[in-house]
Amino acid sequence: MSVGGYRYARRSTRTPAASIALPLHWLCAPSCWQHSAVGAHVYPIQNGIPNLVREEQVSAIDQYFQQQYGAEAARAYDRAIFLLSLLIGCWEPAQRRRLAQLLDPPTGGLVLEVSVGTGANLPFLSEAVGQRGEIVGIDLSPAMLQRAHGRAQDLSIPVHLVRADACRLPFADNTFDAVFHFGGINMFGDVPRALREMVRVAKPGAPVVVGDEGLSENRRRTFLGRRAAKMNNLYLCRPPFAAVPWEDVQGFQLHWAWRELFYVFRFHKGCPAARSQEDHAVSVQAEVRRRVLESPPPGEYGI
Ligand SMILES: C[S@@+](CC[C@H](N)C(=O)[O-])C[C@H]1O[C@@H](n2cnc3c(N)ncnc32)[C@H](O)[C@@H]1O
Repeated sequence: MSVGGYRYARRSTRTPAASIALPLHWLCAPSCWQHSAVGAHVYPIQNGIPNLVREEQVSAIDQYFQQQYGAEAARAYDRAIFLLSLLIGCWEPAQRRRLAQLLDPPTGGLVLEVSVGTGANLPFLSEAVGQRGEIVGIDLSPAMLQRAHGRAQDLSIPVHLVRADACRLPFADNTFDAVFHFGGINMFGDVPRALREMVRVAKPGAPVVVGDEGLSENRRRTFLGRRAAKMNNLYLCRPPFAAVPWEDVQGFQLHWAWRELFYVFRFHKGCPAARSQEDHAVSVQAEVRRRVLESPPPGEYGI
């Protein structure tokens, strides 16, 4: 297969070619984000999933965490999250549905899920985007993507899975009607870059939802908060406000999910038209936010 100078080669062909019918116009080469290649690089299709990762470009920390999501972890993942949710007093499907509803993608739109994992959010994103919608899911772990592939078969809307790095999304600017991420960003190799990437590939005005472990200040003081933090240090993470590309963001909201054990950002990608009118005000607001949010947390709650 060849798109504007790139070649997408099918290596392992367990899945018939017909099911790899990808709308290739929104794909870009991860090395330069352009449709016209200088020097050929072959991106294989493995078990029906295009692999758009150039291993040499993946940071050491992303490589490390990718190894944590091998075949065994992928097999155990869904059950572990379900049990963990019960343990903290949450019904997992209700939490995931709430996040998909918070995204509120336009009906019939094209939704990107970054770090789709085993596809646990797919049924709820598909519900939210409606029958005429489509979902693209990316993840760095082939094992997690294989699980998502199985889950996607049960959905009534097209789901396109791609192996890709959240820090180098292989998509053209302004492609998606909504962008969703949950559960990985705390440990991405380059958090500001990943957020910039999610905003870059969103269309102007598109909603973006991003969440991960991070206790609210109230939850930090409770028994549940202390137990959670003991079990997993990542719960001590604070929402990465300083990494948000404020200049390109409008209507920012901070939410809490899973009994305030997870922070969730919701915002829209800014529209250039609105920005040109309010350029000055927006950049001043962005600077104020940056200074306020970058100031250290109160010492008594410090890590
Ligand atoms: C805790 S799981 C969350 C999966 C899913 N979003 C959920 O809600 O269950 C984290 C996922 O992030 C993926 N991941 C880690 N680093 C990544 C990166 N740099 N790019 C894309 N995915 C990454 C992992 O492979 C894993 O599937």
